[in-house]
Amino acid sequence: MRVRINRRDFGRLLGLSASAATLPAAGAPNPGNKMAGDRKFPAGFLWGTATSAYQIEGATGEDGRGLSIWDTFSRVKTNTYTGNNGDVADDHFHRYREDIALMHGLGIKAYQFSVSWSRIFPEGKGAVNPCGWDFYDRMLDALLAVGIEPFCTLYHWDLPQALMSGGGWQSLDTAKAFSDYSANAAKHLSDRVKNFITISEVSTFVDDGYLYGSDAPGLKLSNAQVAQVAHNVLVGHGLAVRAVRANARAGTKVGIADNAVSTCPVIETREHIDAARIAYREENARVLTVIQEGRYTDHYLKALGADAPKFTAEELQVISTPLDFTGLNIYEPTWVRASSTAPGYEVVDMPKSYPRMAAGWLEFGPDGMYWSPKFAHELWKLKDIYITENGAASWDVPTSTGEVLDTDRILFLRSYLTQLLRGINECVPVKGYFLWTLMDNYEWTDGYAMRFGITYVDYKTQKRTVKLSGEFYKEVIARNGLA
Ligand code: NOJ
Repeated sequence: MRVRINRRDFGRLLGLSASAATLPAAGAPNPGNKMAGDRKFPAGFLWGTATSAYQIEGATGEDGRGLSIWDTFSRVKTNTYTGNNGDVADDHFHRYREDIALMHGLGIKAYQFSVSWSRIFPEGKGAVNPCGWDFYDRMLDALLAVGIEPFCTLYHWDLPQALMSGGGWQSLDTAKAFSDYSANAAKHLSDRVKNFITISEVSTFVDDGYLYGSDAPGLKLSNAQVAQVAHNVLVGHGLAVRAVRANARAGTKVGIADNAVSTCPVIETREHIDAARIAYREENARVLTVIQEGRYTDHYLKALGADAPKFTAEELQVISTPLDFTGLNIYEPTWVRASSTAPGYEVVDMPKSYPRMAAGWLEFGPDGMYWSPKFAHELWKLKDIYITENGAASWDVPTSTGEVLDTDRILFLRSYLTQLLRGINECVPVKGYFLWTLMDNYEWTDGYAMRFGITYVDYKTQKRTVKLSGEFYKEVIARNGLA
């Protein structure tokens, strides 16, 4: 099964919870613009679903697509659950019309998809595949025809295999290639796509792919090398932000989807809340904090010592190129309490009995949906925030009549959305929410065993069946609220 690394483990590995931190001035107090108990979202709130290319498209050999690292990695049978790979996945490449009709039927307003870089540049750089954009053109036209707003992610883990000859993200050449591909995407798509996301979940693919070797490209590098990989990815992100701005039509927006560590106070007292805010900045020092502040925290650099990444002032400027929006992927919480020793907080371990969803790494913790956007906004006064992913795997089994009664997923979603609303009611500027995921799909090394969809996919027939959670989400969207 997928070796999922709890997202705070990297920080722990580096001893991040053990040294000093400086907290910038806290943001504006929350005036509370709504009455307690209001269960409606603001007018115009964007309700979406999210997917990614390798997880749904299939058709890996069609229209001149090049190989990606996930093709190579998943074709080694022992790397994934029972040797599953994404060769067919949801066959979305051929069934996109049906999938768009499904979204339309649920009332979904926005769709976050990712582009397979190796469809566009089969070698990662150089010549553009003449058919590369054809599928995305067809898909976007169908999406816009039913009024669904596309959000395009440029990189969701499927690096063109050819770029591994230079070490993949170990090399800044990959950051440059990513920038060129992003420029091409912005030119080609920005007549229809108004929102671009550069990269999805930097920490997950860097740690799982380059430190633990559990995901593609399956490397087990040293801490110093991994810190450099993360830095290079962020340079790629910053260059891509600039490339999108330079090549897209006026008014196009660009952001990132970050799985920031959602630090939550164990008890909502002033001291624990303050500690959790310090923790938010430090536990996210490697990605979100440096993007927002243009510097690695002293604490981060000190904790890494000789393993700290090598960087220039210019690279930090690139990394911190201002974003139009910040995307937060919110899943499991990290519980924090105040500590009298520096840096003023302590991560509290979860007991064995802590409730988890079907994916063992996913501990239940709706509070993160309140605290993560709130702390991000307090620390960095963000313009717009989107929840770019949130969802859960369940052990879905169709009943004899073919229904999927995933009440655990509904419990999860309702609880997280309640906390999201709590923040919005305190003026945290969250503008939209993308549920992960539209339909069951290829869950990386967990293959097809782990189902995150609100639509059940029978992989033998490719039949889609909306689950009870899909009906729940449809209701939420229709009411623009939880009641
Ligand atoms: C994180 C990733 O972005 C996505 O690809 C994955 O399927 C989900 N969250 C669930 O693990």
